[in-house]
Amino acid sequence: MGTSRPRRSCLAVPGSSVKMLGKAQGLPADMVFLDLEDAVAPLAKPEARKNIVAALNEGDWAGKTRTVRVNDLTTSWTYRDVVEVVEGAGPNLDCIMLPKVQGADQIAWLDLTLTQIEKTIGLPVGVIGIEAQIENARGLVNVDAIAGASPRVETIIFGPADFMASINMKSLTVGALNPDYPGDPFHYILMRILMAARMHDQQAIDGPYLQIYDVDGYREVAKRAAALGYDGKWVLHPGQIDAANEVFSPSQSDYDHAELILDAYDYYTSEAGGKLGAVMLGDEMIDEASRKMALVVAAKGRAAGMSRTSTFTPPE
Ligand code: GLV
Ligand code: MG
Repeated sequence: MGTSRPRRSCLAVPGSSVKMLGKAQGLPADMVFLDLEDAVAPLAKPEARKNIVAALNEGDWAGKTRTVRVNDLTTSWTYRDVVEVVEGAGPNLDCIMLPKVQGADQIAWLDLTLTQIEKTIGLPVGVIGIEAQIENARGLVNVDAIAGASPRVETIIFGPADFMASINMKSLTVGALNPDYPGDPFHYILMRILMAARMHDQQAIDGPYLQIYDVDGYREVAKRAAALGYDGKWVLHPGQIDAANEVFSPSQSDYDHAELILDAYDYYTSEAGGKLGAVMLGDEMIDEASRKMALVVAAKGRAAGMSRTSTFTPPE
């Protein structure tokens, strides 16, 4: 269930802002994460926990995945964040996001803590998922173990701002290419995370783009992640939501083409179609691998609510 949740656009909502907690409910993001971490000042965290519990219980989040980002495990806040939010709003919560994850032990801690709380408040054990944010070198090196540390893990998320700081990357523009480097400086990191996520059938999510009014810049960075296979990207501002939903959905022609391949391959491999394994569809040869690629695109299109504009007609 967890990995089938749409997460093309993942909206950050500071838990300290009652106004934004209200506004977020009406925005077309696939997923929201109500933040207790870096968007909330230390002195505002206790109040933010209360705001988040109230917003989850009393708000209308229909159609959205509801996640809360707690503070990382090097702080003193994490256990209170988890206990207060899950005890207070567990039935109205889908996932806990753990930032700056460095090793499998941290996921194991969260898994056990969630199990205890679920038993205490009468929720099915395992119902609350985990989203793991990779934000430093140690987390990236350990990402396979992190992804495999609990069946609750639904996503692995790249946190580029903290990551760039942690590896001394010489740039302040998160996610942007650097003219001093003849390639994409984020390619390895994104791919490393994607491999770990896919090894465990999890989603891979790209992090924020901080120039919130530069929607073209956002789109460019998002397209690179989508091209690799990423499922979605964070949005920090309502203006980025449409771009995310569009970039992480297939184009209409790719969606139509994928559905066409599926129908054609289904027909040609059947008795009526001649039990063929490799056939020509127009100018293109399709086989079992084409079917698998088409399934991915078709699934993304169906999840995005797209409809076909063409159909396959078997030859006379
Ligand atoms: C997000 O948390 C980031 O550090 O980029
Ligand atoms: Mg961060």
